[in-house]
Amino acid sequence: MKFISALLLLLAACLASSLPVIQVGFNDVTIDKVEANMLQIATHSWELGTAAEALTELLAPSLSVFRSAAFPPPTSVTPADGNTTAMMNIAVTTVKQKPMNSMTLIDGDGAVGDPASLGVAVLLANWTRSDPADQSFAQAARSQLAYLTTVAPRTSDGAISHRASEVQLWADFVYMAPPFIAYFGALAGGSSETTLLQLAYDQCRLYRNYLRDDNGLWKHIVLGDQASQDFRHWGTGNAWAAAGMMRVLQTIMHSNQARQFDAQQADLTAWITEILAATWQHQQPSGTLTNVIDDSTTFPDSSSTALLAAVTYRLAVLTADYSLVAPANRALNYIRQNVNGDGWLLNTVDPETFNTPSKPGEYSPEGQAFVLLLHAAWKDFGASLSGTLPH
Ligand SMILES: *[C@@H]1O[C@H](CO)[C@@H](O)[C@H](O)[C@H]1NC(C)=O
Ligand SMILES: *[C@@H]1O[C@H](CO)[C@@H](O)[C@H](O)[C@H]1NC(C)=O
Repeated sequence: MKFISALLLLLAACLASSLPVIQVGFNDVTIDKVEANMLQIATHSWELGTAAEALTELLAPSLSVFRSAAFPPPTSVTPADGNTTAMMNIAVTTVKQKPMNSMTLIDGDGAVGDPASLGVAVLLANWTRSDPADQSFAQAARSQLAYLTTVAPRTSDGAISHRASEVQLWADFVYMAPPFIAYFGALAGGSSETTLLQLAYDQCRLYRNYLRDDNGLWKHIVLGDQASQDFRHWGTGNAWAAAGMMRVLQTIMHSNQARQFDAQQADLTAWITEILAATWQHQQPSGTLTNVIDDSTTFPDSSSTALLAAVTYRLAVLTADYSLVAPANRALNYIRQNVNGDGWLLNTVDPETFNTPSKPGEYSPEGQAFVLLLHAAWKDFGASLSGTLPH
């Protein structure tokens, strides 16, 4: 008897040391407000694309690439898939408003990558459309892909530019275009699938080659017009890169051709880990990151903190390595304290200047989405620890 209770004690101690703590997260009432606010202020291409992805992960996770049954998606959505209304509305509005002569899904304010961020939602709208004769979504997605692969400028080694007017690489690109390219491929099957999964991976690889510094963090903007180059390790830029690579990785993993892409999956996992491990070393005692991750004289930024925490939970689900969960938990706690009673995320960077805080009374559309992405990732993390993560 004594022996058994000693064993049980030992077991409990082991479990306590190896299993991470599940941090208290957001309640649904707050998340609903954060979502409504996001939809109210998201207007730019990348904000709408990020919003659509957040709505998918939050409200219809069975359609997201984070599920092993992601491919193929269902040909019609049922209530069991969750509530896809808000996400589909974004895709439908985008395709309805797309000018006939535009190759891209939406005006990108001069950016190549940003309009493509809407591509996954448009492909889901195509796949689940009720009228089989309606080719508008498929055509819009195909022409967006053709723009990326045949029109947009590139570096000599093949990195697709983030800007339309010249070759310039932004870390942001990694969240905007490669996840769409990979998703298109995973739906296409056959040799297109092979080509596009490889292309999505190659864009991540090339962008890392250009942007990564010795400490593991990524610069924000290189090449092209000097005035807009930005070699600092911008928090949101690193977050876009890590989160974009995570979506590409999950898309490849859950595709039919996963086994032919083992090496690419290992690389992507290592590159995401590299950013996250470097990032959390600079976490402030409050739980926040600073706007430039490795410059603690810059202001605290809740946006990048939220998205990098989300990716950290996703990585922990994937690898069952919990060594970065403690900083993610501290970040989640900080984000909870920084969402006010009306559902606005406070203390964000102004997403259009990159280097000033949002003005009083102004909020960040992408920051609102990052809170939803964090909540969705945190929920999956909890489910994976308790063995209840759906397929
Ligand atoms: C689904 O979402 C839409 C738009 O966000 C909302 O109007 C509707 O009430 C929701 N439906 C259900 C069944 O919750
Ligand atoms: C659009 O959806 C149909 C299934 O309804 C699928 O066969 C087709 O390949 C899709 N098009 C694209 C571009 O994914």
